[in-house]
Amino acid sequence: KEGSRQIAIDGPAGSGKSTVAKKVAERLGIFYLDTGAMYRALAYKAVKNKVPLTDEELVSRLAYETDIYFSKERGVWCDGEDVTQAIRTPEVSRAVSLVASYPGVRKRLVELQQAEAERRSIVMDGRDIGTHVLPQAGLKIFLTAEPEVRARRRWQELKSSGKEASLAEVVRDLEERDRQDRNRVASPLRAAPDAVILDTTRLDIEETVARILDMARGGLR
Ligand code: CDP
Ligand code: CDP
Repeated sequence: KEGSRQIAIDGPAGSGKSTVAKKVAERLGIFYLDTGAMYRALAYKAVKNKVPLTDEELVSRLAYETDIYFSKERGVWCDGEDVTQAIRTPEVSRAVSLVASYPGVRKRLVELQQAEAERRSIVMDGRDIGTHVLPQAGLKIFLTAEPEVRARRRWQELKSSGKEASLAEVVRDLEERDRQDRNRVASPLRAAPDAVILDTTRLDIEETVARILDMARGGLR
């Protein structure tokens, strides 16, 4: 659409995507869509309803029967239930990459994501935004950081929200999820050829946001 803009932010778990994407969207006064939360909401529902996660057909059908949306306060809702907290548990984290590997699931969620981008300017974060969801995005960022740093960030986050987890366990879960996301056949985690790669191992959130805003305002394509 004329005059609307699209910013795609991809990268592995704990690279800072959602924190950074949310701030970039706030500063630019445009909408933010957390696509990972959509896959998490579906995984949460599958786990809750005891749908066997290895049953590709059942899980794919579930994707078409599930209503996922974001409230004004950026909370995540699934079939009328606020799942903002429930989708962040280690159990959901362990289930989500399998659910997200199914082409039928991706087809449905990508349709919803593209519909959001049709309506407004948007910052979207995920794994395949620059490569598949918004291939025409004016700015594509691929965030990375050393695996130990990413795991430590996620562990800190769990700790400060009062959840018990060992660092070793978080490292293992994160490595396993990265492995699944990178190696799946449908839209694997990958930087688009025209993405700007930003290593946040030694960059804090504000520095990362500032660099992206510079690029967004500089009209770098
Ligand atoms: O925040 P974190 O990096 O832990 O993960 P997330 O962004 O909430 O995404 C959770 C999972 O959803 C990822 O590990 C992927 O398996 C899947 N995902 C995806 O396949 N494609 C996306 N665009 C976003 C997430
Ligand atoms: O969305 P993604 O999994 O890529 O990462 P995130 O949820 O935005 O960030 C994971 C945690 O790392 C959050 O608690 C951030 O505050 C923190 N973080 C950080 O300390 N330094 C950065 N440069 C980026 C994120």
